[in-house]
Amino acid sequence: MGARRVAFINEKGGTCKTTLAVHTAAWLASEKGRRVLLLDLDTQGHAGKSLGIDVRGSSLTMADVLVAENIEPEAAILSTAISGLDVLPSNRSLADLPERLAAKPDRHRLLRQVIDELEARRDYDVFVFDAPPSVGLVTLSIMIAAREIVVPVALTYFALDGCAEIVQTVEMVREEYGHEDIEVSLVVPTLHRRTRLAEEVLAKLEHYFAGSVASPLGFNVKIDEAQSHGRTIWEHAPSSRGAQMLETIASEIWEKRAR
Ligand SMILES: Nc1ncnc2c1ncn2[C@@H]1O[C@H](COP(=O)(O)OP(=O)(O)OP(=O)(O)O)[C@@H](O)[C@H]1O
Ligand SMILES: [Mg+2]
Repeated sequence: MGARRVAFINEKGGTCKTTLAVHTAAWLASEKGRRVLLLDLDTQGHAGKSLGIDVRGSSLTMADVLVAENIEPEAAILSTAISGLDVLPSNRSLADLPERLAAKPDRHRLLRQVIDELEARRDYDVFVFDAPPSVGLVTLSIMIAAREIVVPVALTYFALDGCAEIVQTVEMVREEYGHEDIEVSLVVPTLHRRTRLAEEVLAKLEHYFAGSVASPLGFNVKIDEAQSHGRTIWEHAPSSRGAQMLETIASEIWEKRAR
């Protein structure tokens, strides 16, 4: 059994993908003693920023690793203030990736090759992917590289839009790319408030994804504050409700083995 490969994917913006990716990665490193690599695949660079890393600088990023054939992935990996947690950052330079890789027929598999190499050469226990709010080359590459897909769904009116598409895309990746191991392992309801609409959307999620719905992530301003300080919630406000909720969800993701 190789390293776990967990991706946080939803094409809709602002569904807490980055928050959950960063906190799950940090929790696995600090509480479970795992060696974790967090891979930022978003031009916004929020995964790195959430951990206090200045991603605008000229250091190597994911785009360099995927485009340049002579750059080893290790050269772009940074350690973080959290022991056991490394990050491979992104920034704006990822924006023109599809054009830069257009001539490469195997472009969808490049990320997977990078992860396979890292898995063989380094002792990471878990790879955590933070996906962008879009569909396209990057999200498809993540699906081909990952095994467990976690879908954070904000409990708003349009929440269910996109969920069915993600399930269909996972099916497509399984069949067309021969990636038998991939599955939607959990759906995480996010930005939960006790409104009738939120409860209705939650009930629908529990119906469609029976047995695979995590505890909801309620609204807690400390989580936003922590990110603005480049720290995790456990560093910023360890006794907050946000800290408790994110720990519960991280442990549910960890317990939910893919198969
Ligand atoms: N439980 C929460 N309560 C309050 N604010 C939150 C909570 N979770 C996340 N946020 C804030 O909501 C915003 C969006 O969250 P986040 O960046 O995790 O979403 P995302 O899905 O990664 O967004 P994008 O699609 O742009 O990548 C951030 O400012 C974050 O700090
Ligand atoms: Mg994000």
